[in-house]
Amino acid sequence: MRGRRARPEDAVAVHRLIAHYAAEGLLLPRTEVEIYAHIGRFLVLVEPASAASTDRLLGCVALEPYGPDLAEIRSLAVDPQICGRGVGARLLRFALAIARRRKVARVFAVTHAPKFFNRQGFQTLSRQALAEKLDRDCRTCPKSPTCELVAVIATVCPERVMLPVVAACSPVPIL
Ligand SMILES: CC(C)(COP(=O)(O)OP(=O)(O)OC[C@H]1O[C@@H](n2cnc3c(N)ncnc32)[C@H](O)[C@@H]1OP(=O)(O)O)[C@@H](O)C(=O)NCCC(=O)NCCS
Repeated sequence: MRGRRARPEDAVAVHRLIAHYAAEGLLLPRTEVEIYAHIGRFLVLVEPASAASTDRLLGCVALEPYGPDLAEIRSLAVDPQICGRGVGARLLRFALAIARRRKVARVFAVTHAPKFFNRQGFQTLSRQALAEKLDRDCRTCPKSPTCELVAVIATVCPERVMLPVVAACSPVPIL
């Protein structure tokens, strides 16, 4: 299993995986065109190709920038055939390591699976504390009034933390 940045040729498989969970209401749907256009924001875990095959996608995650201090974990998904074997946790650690390398102070997600994130060191917080997310997506989302998604946040670069909401978050362990 290998983690790497996604490439344009991964877009079809990434779209198929996200569409699988979007159909179950667990992820927001994303079009193939959108994924292709933003493929540079995706990270993937793959089973590397043998001579006769292409890489097999095991999971994907997108790291969406919100300025220099903040990023959002989006579209985190693991091949349903291998859920429960540590791939999601590994993918999340990989995304956090990349965020840390980019000197992003904190990373958040808005998710149906807060306990998964809590296990990886994220803390739950009120969505109202994420003004950036509210401004970008929530205010115009038709599902907003009945939305049951939970916000979670982790500090990845404590030395870059500027805002009070971050001061309340304990850092996730350095890999
Ligand atoms: C959520 C998801 C990414 C987890 O991936 P996974 O490979 O199955 O998870 P892991 O095997 O790495 O599990 C790591 C830990 O989290 C726990 N966990 C996994 N999914 C969980 C969930 N939905 N809720 C609560 N805990 C969960 C596991 O029990 C495990 O706990 P442990 O460390 O005590 O053993 C995967 O189930 C998935 O793709 N779900 C659909 C899409 C989704 O909900 N994405 C997250 C929102 S952005």
